[in-house]
Amino acid sequence: MDATRQRFLMCRPTYFAVDYAINPWMDPTAPVDAGLAIRQWEQLRQTYLDLGHEVELVDPVAGLPDMVFAANGGTVIDGKAMAVQFRDPQRADEAPAYRAWFEAAGFEMYDPKHVNEGEGDVLLVGDHLLAGTGFRTAHASHAQLQEVFGYPVITMQLVDPRFYHLDTALTVLDERTVAYLPEAFSPGSQAVLRRLFPDAIHATMADAEVLGLNAVSDGRHVVLPAQATDLAAKLRDRGYETIGIDLSELRKAGGGPKCCTLRLRQGKAIK
Ligand code: ARG
Repeated sequence: MDATRQRFLMCRPTYFAVDYAINPWMDPTAPVDAGLAIRQWEQLRQTYLDLGHEVELVDPVAGLPDMVFAANGGTVIDGKAMAVQFRDPQRADEAPAYRAWFEAAGFEMYDPKHVNEGEGDVLLVGDHLLAGTGFRTAHASHAQLQEVFGYPVITMQLVDPRFYHLDTALTVLDERTVAYLPEAFSPGSQAVLRRLFPDAIHATMADAEVLGLNAVSDGRHVVLPAQATDLAAKLRDRGYETIGIDLSELRKAGGGPKCCTLRLRQGKAIK
């Protein structure tokens, strides 16, 4: 299995907190160790650097505690960046901050016409885009994604509020392979997933409940929450190398490794 060198965008959780609840993981009355959140995030970043990946950083903005979840900052494919529009007003001001970063970095910019929470709900698998809807990203935005990027977009209907973004229910492992929690999808979407990915790994509810599917793969190494032990064992059986990371503090906001990581795709894969 070949690892592809990745270019990621991340945002340090300098202002991380759980001040509001916009998903079932968030409890503003529960304590959060902000220092630990930063150390855990630093470990994720260091893991990527040790794997040989490139990590770009966008400046965190005070008053935007969820900005650490860079996956929601945009969708970046073939040098084009589509900015985002959040469902919830608490996150709205993150959109221009990420947009400014993409523009300064030289990406060709597209603006969203509907609610679209970026790579949280939009995942490229080979030549297809899987696009989630049901909680955050609006179904109407799927048509725009197809127009902008020119990849066939396949709608995935999410049905469990705990798995509110596609990247909490499905992991892209390589150009052909995914892992997912079947119960997180409508019956029709499950049938589509079986048709497209007959060899997919099916995760258990226990894995999903520790956000185990919120993982980042380079085609060979899979960085996933340390608590997702069943999923890690299944991945190793298939020949992947797994790297467990403890992001316990960020999980209190409903996020894991993938949420913290936006893939920046240039015209060609950087080998
Ligand atoms: N608290 C954030 C929210 O609810 C978490 C976002 C997690 N990001 C992700 N890509 N799943 O919006």
